[in-house]
Amino acid sequence: MKKIAILASGSGTNAENIVRLFHEGNKIRVVHVLANRQKAGVHDRMQKLGVPTEYIPNSVWENEAYKVVDILQSKEVDLVVLAGFMRKIDSEIINAYKGRIINIHPSLLPAHGGKGMWGHHVHEAVIADGDKQSGVTVHYVTDEIDGGEIIMQQAIDLEEGETAESLEAKIHPVEYDLYPRAIVAALKRLDTSTSNPTSIVDLEEESAFGSYAMPVEEIKPEKSAGQTPEEEWAKELNMKYEPQNEPISAQVQTINTQQTATPPPVTAQPQRVETSHEPMPSTNLVWAVIMTLCCNTIAGIIAIIFSAQVSSKYHAGDIEGAKRASRMSEVWIIVSFVVGMLANTLQFPLLLSKELLLNAF
Ligand code: GAR
Repeated sequence: MKKIAILASGSGTNAENIVRLFHEGNKIRVVHVLANRQKAGVHDRMQKLGVPTEYIPNSVWENEAYKVVDILQSKEVDLVVLAGFMRKIDSEIINAYKGRIINIHPSLLPAHGGKGMWGHHVHEAVIADGDKQSGVTVHYVTDEIDGGEIIMQQAIDLEEGETAESLEAKIHPVEYDLYPRAIVAALKRLDTSTSNPTSIVDLEEESAFGSYAMPVEEIKPEKSAGQTPEEEWAKELNMKYEPQNEPISAQVQTINTQQTATPPPVTAQPQRVETSHEPMPSTNLVWAVIMTLCCNTIAGIIAIIFSAQVSSKYHAGDIEGAKRASRMSEVWIIVSFVVGMLANTLQFPLLLSKELLLNAF
C-alpha cells in the first residue's frame, strides 16, 4: 500500500476528494494531513473522514523544517501532496523528498504561476489578461515556485462574460478529476524508478536546467475489450468507477511522463465537494475614519493604518496577518473612542478649574 501525506492551508476540498476516492480502495492511503493554519477548514473535513491532521505553525515551516521531515518519515510517507498549501516549501523538505512532492495549481503553468499566484488571484489574472483558456496543472515541487516538471495538465475554455468566480467554480471539478490521476501517475513513476537506475532525482535535475523535454501526448481514451482504460484502472485499484454523464468542459489534456506511453488512469468519478474560501476580515476603515474625525486622536490614525493593512495582507495571501490587523484596528478604534470621550468629558472641568485658578491669583 502506498502512503501519502497532504499539506493544506485552506478549505481542503481537494484533500477531501482525494481521501474519499482512494479510501474506497486499498492501494493508496492518506495517512496524515499537515496544515499551517490552525483554523483551516481541512481539519474538520479530515476529522469527519477519520484522517489525522496536525497543525504546524508557520515558524516551524520556516525555521525548523527538519521537524516536518521527521513527521513525514515517521509516517513512512511515499508521496507528499500539496492541496491548496499556500507556503513555499523549504529546501530541506524538498531535498529530503526530491521527486516525491507534487502540487496542484489552478492555471495552465507556466502561465499565471509564481509568488502571490494562488487561488482567486490566479483566476483574476487570467480574466485580466483576456485569456481564452485556463486550466489545472499538477507538477513536481522544486525550489522554484510553480516551476517544477509538469505531470499533467487539463485545459478549459473561458466563456463570454467569464468572471474570476465563475472560472473558479469551473476549475474545481477539473481539479477533482485530474489530481487523483496525477497522484497515481507519480506513484507509478516512483515504483518504476526504484527498479530503474534513471531515478526521479536525475530527471528532476535535468528538467530543472531546462534541457530535458518530455513528450507531450494527447490523451484519447480508447475502448478495449469492452473496458475503458478508466474502468481497467478502477478495477486495479479496487475502486468503483462510474462514467461521467457530461464530460467536464476540458478541451486539452496532456501528460508528461518518461516511462509510460499510456496515460495514467481515471480512477473513479470525482466527488463534488463543497467549496468555501476564507473571506477577507473586516477592515473597520469607516469606523477608524469616523473616530479620527470625531475624537481627533492619534489612536484613530493608528486604527486607519491597521485597517489599510487588512486588505493588503489578505491580498498578499497572509490571512492570519489580515485577521491580526483587523483585530488591531478594532482595538485602536476603541482606544480612540475612550481617549476622545475622556478628553471631551474632562475638557469642561479642566477649563473651569483653570479659570478659577487664574481668577484666584
Ligand atoms: C485549489 O484551487 C488549488 O488549485 C489552489 O488552491 C485551491 C485549494 O482549494 N492552489 C494554489 O493556488 C496553489 N498555488 P481547496 O482548499 O478547496 O482544495
